[in-house]
Amino acid sequence: MNLDTASRTAPSPAPAALGSPFDSSVIDGPFAGEARLEGRLPPWLRGTLLRTAPALFELGAWKAAHWFDALGMLYALDLTDDGVRFRQRLLDGDALTHARAGRMPVSTFATPNERSFLRRVFEPIPTLTDNANVHVIPTPDGWLAMTETPWQRLVDGATLEPLRTVRYDDAVGAGALMLAHPEYDRARREIVNVAIKIGRRVELVPFRQTLGAYTRTPIARIALDDIPYLHAFGMTPTKIVLAAPPLRAKAASLLWSNRGYIDHFAWDATRPTDFFIVDRATGSVRRAEGDAMFFFHTVNAFDDGDDVVLDLCAYRDASLIDRLRVPALRGDVTNDARLCRVRIAATGGRATYETLDASYLEFPTVNRAALGGARHGVVWGAALGHDGAVTTSTVRRIDLERGTATLFGRDRVVYGEPVFVRRPGAAGESDGVLLTVGSDLARRCAELVVLDAEGLEPLATARLPIALPLGFHGSFQRAKGVAHGA
Ligand SMILES: [Fe+2]
Repeated sequence: MNLDTASRTAPSPAPAALGSPFDSSVIDGPFAGEARLEGRLPPWLRGTLLRTAPALFELGAWKAAHWFDALGMLYALDLTDDGVRFRQRLLDGDALTHARAGRMPVSTFATPNERSFLRRVFEPIPTLTDNANVHVIPTPDGWLAMTETPWQRLVDGATLEPLRTVRYDDAVGAGALMLAHPEYDRARREIVNVAIKIGRRVELVPFRQTLGAYTRTPIARIALDDIPYLHAFGMTPTKIVLAAPPLRAKAASLLWSNRGYIDHFAWDATRPTDFFIVDRATGSVRRAEGDAMFFFHTVNAFDDGDDVVLDLCAYRDASLIDRLRVPALRGDVTNDARLCRVRIAATGGRATYETLDASYLEFPTVNRAALGGARHGVVWGAALGHDGAVTTSTVRRIDLERGTATLFGRDRVVYGEPVFVRRPGAAGESDGVLLTVGSDLARRCAELVVLDAEGLEPLATARLPIALPLGFHGSFQRAKGVAHGA
């Protein structure tokens, strides 16, 4: 293990106690080392898995009140001919600087901000956090780390040092929130994402952006009476599909407020989920309604004749958000979402829902490179559960053609999002591997598992000597010189 700078290690609990998947061993300073590899990496699987995770829940006088507000840490797992090396670094930025000072004067997800009375008077809408702990994607300039605010952080892939904060001032409008789940159109080499403009009026603004360029072009503007909570959306080759659950906030409620962003929202099961289908070529918008439901993650969207289909992981309501607050987070955080198919018929009428699998599923993924916006036959994901004592998880493969589910899990290991990597020259939708990082609660250390994406058999396990916190999302980038199949 190589300690690059002085690092701070979390206090060690009693040896017999199980760890938590939200724990980090080393939380300060850049840190790197070698993992112990069991099994064999496929010879074509060379590159870097980079993920972002909420990691630091307390720093001096500052405390996060919600999982989503813990300060972000980037960690990289480099898959090489010589084995697996890990690197990690707290995400430097304004949020970390404020936390070090013991006071957070910017708005975060569910932790009250600590603005003075005068600052609230002169700045009615608070500045939003740059704590980009939700997702990270590769770009030509570096890795782009994101959260659900106007700021994105560009990071050096080699050092994990922040290069700069990306600040947009373009036709979409400065200060608009952006989702942290952009879609990528491989054929056009463009990112498509959604901005939420909050002002006298609320607007959803789907936009396109060339990968590596920082100017956004609006595709449509959808005016709303209130702010919906949106985390992800769907995209087909011709359409953008937005689903707005009845978890809403009035824009005026944000004025002068010190509450966390989500604490302005209220769930109303009597209201519908609103769907907006945006034509990517013309910007025309069609609306539909469906029953109340909540979701964080979409799976895939596709055109089915003139109908639009959106698969997502659907919850009955938004109560999971409260179970992810501190200290409830240390209890039962079961992701009771099910794979749901939403169909919006071209002929009009309400959106229809169909549950595709009875088991719980979260952190979904599909083989996007092979599909190219077409209908998927396989979904992978992971779901957190609880056995009465500790958090559990299972990695799942759901075969929609055969109606079968395949599971992978290890006792006392909690796995996060599986990332699919396609084998070069792949023949089928499942021809590749899944990379998933787990928290071994007994060893209090992390592991990277490489699973065959068809049968979920483990091909290799890289065991790290430290714990990594359960993260949200990340991406795999192939090493240069390795045949590119994705
Ligand atoms: Fe997410």
